[in-house]
Amino acid sequence: MVMDPLLPFDYRRLKADLRDSLFGQHIASDVVLKAVSSFMTDSNPNKPLVLSFHGTTGTGKNHVAKIIARNIYKEGEKCKHVHTYISDYHFPDKRISHIYSAQLKQLIIQAVYWFPRSMFIFDEMDKMHPQLIDFIKPFLDYNAHVDGVSFNKAIFIFLSNAVGNVITEVALDFWRSGKERKEIRMNSKELETKISEKYILYITSGFSHSSLIDYHLIDHYVPFLPLELKHVYQCVIVEMMHMNFMPNYDLAGEVARDMPYYPEKERAFAVKGCPAPCLQGLWSNKYLSIACLVLSICLVQLLSLSFGVLPVGVGLGLFQ
Ligand SMILES: Nc1ncnc2c1ncn2[C@@H]1O[C@H](COP(=O)(O)OP(=O)(O)OP(=O)(O)O)[C@@H](O)[C@H]1O
Ligand SMILES: [Mg+2]
Repeated sequence: MVMDPLLPFDYRRLKADLRDSLFGQHIASDVVLKAVSSFMTDSNPNKPLVLSFHGTTGTGKNHVAKIIARNIYKEGEKCKHVHTYISDYHFPDKRISHIYSAQLKQLIIQAVYWFPRSMFIFDEMDKMHPQLIDFIKPFLDYNAHVDGVSFNKAIFIFLSNAVGNVITEVALDFWRSGKERKEIRMNSKELETKISEKYILYITSGFSHSSLIDYHLIDHYVPFLPLELKHVYQCVIVEMMHMNFMPNYDLAGEVARDMPYYPEKERAFAVKGCPAPCLQGLWSNKYLSIACLVLSICLVQLLSLSFGVLPVGVGLGLFQ
């Protein structure tokens, strides 16, 4: 019996997941919730869902792509119908973009032929060769049929750091004028328009003209705001729980404060956003290093006791 890889779509589950696991991204949360819900509950969409995520590093772009995946597929991002491509990794040699394009085209068609509700995540979209971007274009259009395969049920998510600075400028203006972060809205699509315009400029200045953007094939440009200390703090708590530490709120505060912020004086936003799981910064924190050291020593002690070997600590005169 073939198991259905899809979860029954549940608006409230996605809403709760975004509320509980995404910090400081009220715009992304709203846009994603609305876009994904209406797409997933439409039995006959006239176009694939195409989302373009923008923001500086560590603000949650990949994180949200994973949240979407785990609300659509039983196996989440690990589902075989979720295809992730990273520009520098999958298409490193710009000279052979035509070969990548042909391969990519075949892969996408095959995937959607076998499973129309497939998801494609393109990471580092800003580093992708325009030729490759143009190859993706026919899949994104209204009632797109390529080689007899309909793409109307597929989901494309593009991730990019490009124009992160535009978003930062807007957020910094709000921050400096003492306005609430939540007041930053996609007001009359103002911010969205700003992002798309700057993105076009970015793409067209760096590369040859790419038609992906001209044709308005992207349904939503989603801004990821730079994160503040309180959001980094929340991330650190979550990270501690993932690492099976009892959350230590003082320590989390210390770790969050130890991270670099900008502008230098105001320390409004975290330079690296949230720390990526475990390795990206937490271990460099002195307190966590000590915690890790103590933990490792205890582990060695435990192992030595279970195997009847002399505890290392005794030999070192640490445990008497
Ligand atoms: N806004 C957020 N809310 C909750 N967790 C977050 C948020 N942003 C980042 N994280 C955490 O930090 C990790 C790194 O974030 P993520 O990989 O999503 O960043 P990114 O925006 O894709 O950055 P980059 O541009 O460097 O690829 C995530 O796996 C997640 O654990
Ligand atoms: Mg990323």
